[in-house]
Amino acid sequence: MCGIVGYIGPQTASPLIVSGLKRLEYRGYDSAGVCIVDGDSLTIHKQAGKVADLERVVDLSAIRGTLGVGHTRWATHGLPNDVNAHPHTDNDDAIAMVHNGIIENYLTIKKKLENAGYTFRSETDSEVLAVFIGMLYKTIGDLERAVQTALQEVEGTFGIVVVSTHDPNLMIAARRGSPLILGVGQDEFVVASDAAAIIAHTRQVVYLQENEMATITRQGFTTKTIANEATHSVVEEIAFELEEIEKGGFEHFMLKEIYEQPVTFHDGFRGRLRVDEGNVRLGGLSKVQDRLRSAQRIIITACGTSWHAALVGEYLIENLARIPVEVEYASEFRYRNPIIYPNDIVIAISQSGETADTLAAIREAKMKGATVLGMVNVVGSSIARETDAGVYLHAGPEIGVASTKAFTSQLCILTQFALFLGRMRDLPAEAGRTLAQGIAEIPDKIRQILDQSDAIKEIAMTFAQAPNVLYLGRGYQFPVALEGALKLKEISYIHAEGYPAAEMKHGPIALIDENMPVVFIATKDEIYDKVISNIEEVRARRGRVIAIASEGDTQIDRVADHVIRIPETQAMLAPILASIPLQLLAYYIAVERGCNVDMPRNLAKSVTVE
Ligand code: F6R
Repeated sequence: MCGIVGYIGPQTASPLIVSGLKRLEYRGYDSAGVCIVDGDSLTIHKQAGKVADLERVVDLSAIRGTLGVGHTRWATHGLPNDVNAHPHTDNDDAIAMVHNGIIENYLTIKKKLENAGYTFRSETDSEVLAVFIGMLYKTIGDLERAVQTALQEVEGTFGIVVVSTHDPNLMIAARRGSPLILGVGQDEFVVASDAAAIIAHTRQVVYLQENEMATITRQGFTTKTIANEATHSVVEEIAFELEEIEKGGFEHFMLKEIYEQPVTFHDGFRGRLRVDEGNVRLGGLSKVQDRLRSAQRIIITACGTSWHAALVGEYLIENLARIPVEVEYASEFRYRNPIIYPNDIVIAISQSGETADTLAAIREAKMKGATVLGMVNVVGSSIARETDAGVYLHAGPEIGVASTKAFTSQLCILTQFALFLGRMRDLPAEAGRTLAQGIAEIPDKIRQILDQSDAIKEIAMTFAQAPNVLYLGRGYQFPVALEGALKLKEISYIHAEGYPAAEMKHGPIALIDENMPVVFIATKDEIYDKVISNIEEVRARRGRVIAIASEGDTQIDRVADHVIRIPETQAMLAPILASIPLQLLAYYIAVERGCNVDMPRNLAKSVTVE
């Protein structure tokens, strides 16, 4: 949520900041702005809309100056308009700040500042912090200490970068709850909320820790905590390549990421799956192996798409390892005083590793004594760092706001995790081998589905203008129905709901008429016949049926208006395959409706506010 870039070094800052902001736009695109320090003045350009909109009205490349900050906003406090856009300045227009997060006590601070005669232009919490820093600077006369003192009083979350005319050779960055990464180049430094904005300049980065601040000059940097304790920073290497964050010839990141799935799924089991042994090696879990063996309950916590993956994980773990599993919305878990037993395992699933609700949930679980594991995509992210152990998804950067490849990679990891736990308990080797062989065959089967994308597009066109769509599935395919509906609603703005197919008759069936498309996930498994009965119930009410069915199933043609066939696999693995055509359906419908697929309205990729 909100993208931040700051630069100090020998190069002209503005073009560099703008190209960084474009790479961060998936974090928010309500407004864009830059501030460049040039001698004793700040040059600020900001407005509502995307970075490209700002570029259309100002020649940003013409701004001189080698120190500056930029911001792309996902609005929390105040409308997404020009005035509320970042950077914000103090009352003297000498200090400029960009902020990602929420200053929870901003009203109290604002009141205090107003009483002292300070004024505000915007409705944002962020401007209050900028003005507060300005006020403190007047008495302290030192930007680093003014920022530090202000942050000691602030409640809430922040990733901030501050520059000023008081010292054109100084940039201050600080974080609490919102990620910030410092890129360390040759005599130059780039601060950003994501490594994607840094990799074009350097691969060497320092991940700022919670409550840490960095003071960066043209010569080097120092770090310390906001409470003024010394910290030791470790320079690490960015774990992905520049090409991975480019569109690579695809029209949208989302389509590219859908097509990457044969490879990303394979990367999720490469070096881990042991088909011959019918087992899995998960190096990241070796230090908690004993605790996993004695676990009596697993709680999985996540949000959105990751929560849907968690539901599939519940079925898998209970089935293969016979350990009770509870799946919790991270946002609910934290606030309902959950009961945690000392030998509970809590697993956080997150693509970004920065989702504020999920982070808060694991902190709660840790505080209550649970062993906390992470299944995270972004290497070095907050959740990856704060968990006791974990398994990376290895899906590579996911830029499209709608999660696709991360979902199938989450299923890849969850299936292996369930197999690993099962084999630790009483799952026979032969059953393990069958499942492991099935996992190994998935990438080719995903390819076969992608080969049908033209046919899937044609089916998508038949309900691209529908106002509502229902998605129904049972067993392992119930979470896939939820995920299919989420994909459609978030990128096409069509109202869509997912239900367990049998629940339909307890209410949603009232919605069915000849205008209601119903997507059934009706793959061959032990409840297939029951799903066919549910399809009949929809047909009897003249609903239009689109079925995701198994290859070789001829019975389905009798009951469905349109059929998308996916290769046969074991029931436990079928959610992985079934989710691919649902991603494609949502994608083609959104494109047909002229929606901005990669940046759907009101959304942002990494939800770092609660
Ligand atoms: C939907 C989507 C969101 C995320 C959710 C959790 O396509 O992307 O629902 O799944 O915001 O994000 P992570 O997985 O980063 O914790």
